[in-house]
Amino acid sequence: MADKTITRRGRLQGKVCIVTGAGSPRGIGWSTIKRFADEGTRHIYAADINPANFVALREAFEETYKDAKITFVQADATDESAIQGLCERALKETGRLDVFFANAGIFGPLTPYDQTPLPDVVELLRVNVGSAFLAVKYASTAMTEVNEASGKVKSGGVVILTGSNSGLCGSKTGMGYSASKAAIHNLAKTGAYENASRGTGVRVNAIAPGPVGTDFLPAHLQPYVSTRPDIFCGPAEIADAVLFLASDESIFVNGQTVAADNGVTGGLYLEKLLD
Ligand SMILES: NC(=O)c1ccc[n+]([C@@H]2O[C@H](COP(=O)([O-])OP(=O)(O)OC[C@H]3O[C@@H](n4cnc5c(N)ncnc54)[C@H](O)[C@@H]3O)[C@@H](O)[C@H]2O)c1
Repeated sequence: MADKTITRRGRLQGKVCIVTGAGSPRGIGWSTIKRFADEGTRHIYAADINPANFVALREAFEETYKDAKITFVQADATDESAIQGLCERALKETGRLDVFFANAGIFGPLTPYDQTPLPDVVELLRVNVGSAFLAVKYASTAMTEVNEASGKVKSGGVVILTGSNSGLCGSKTGMGYSASKAAIHNLAKTGAYENASRGTGVRVNAIAPGPVGTDFLPAHLQPYVSTRPDIFCGPAEIADAVLFLASDESIFVNGQTVAADNGVTGGLYLEKLLD
């Protein structure tokens, strides 16, 4: 469970966090929850539309983290009242909300445009962009809540959206997915700007993973996870980047997308592709 080789510095000491898309044992959300707890979170609300693994994950968490609390919630990240309710629940039960990691997302078949029905594209936009928007909307509002009894003395917090490196550059196929992730990178900028103009103290950033060896990755790409470690990583590498954005170490980082793809979108592997 907890990675014993990691130096723990209490970077999220006492923080209350929400993570969506948190119910997949091999996923980025669950890996991030463990990193957050490693760094001293007080309470994590772990939400997923699919509750199948909640019992096993809770047991694993409670066995490792004796002084952190976790609450699993079955919730659709695109359901406005569910996300509003989740933020309000965190406030009611703990008095504060500090971090919202909007990680839930769906993938579509990487079909070429002439084999892609419009409703497939609309669904990708609805889920991926809609869930990120609701996270900014309701988490920002909840993070303005100040509660001295809970130790939160000023408005503020961090929203982290999950984009993709395929939203930063073109892809051979799969326009709907790439476009939905590109929109998320703009949501981070616009969400940050709107929060700054309101003086909420809420930062909004996005993470752009490259291909990660989770259940999300299409079957034909899974073998590359072990054979191309230069391009394919595990969820822990993404969780570390999310932790940076969640912590005060990124206090001056706002409205940004951090690509965690070993430099692929920096063009590092272009010459290999051209070989
Ligand atoms: N794995 C990759 O290669 C990769 C690359 C770039 C970005 N991402 C992004 O990372 C995020 C997490 O993906 P992962 O790789 O950990 O995949 P995963 O399949 O392990 O986890 C995704 C989780 O999101 C949940 N989910 C889906 N729709 C939901 C909804 N409407 N409401 C609540 N939960 C919902 C699923 O049940 C699942 O548990 C996604 O947003 C994905 O787009 C993944």
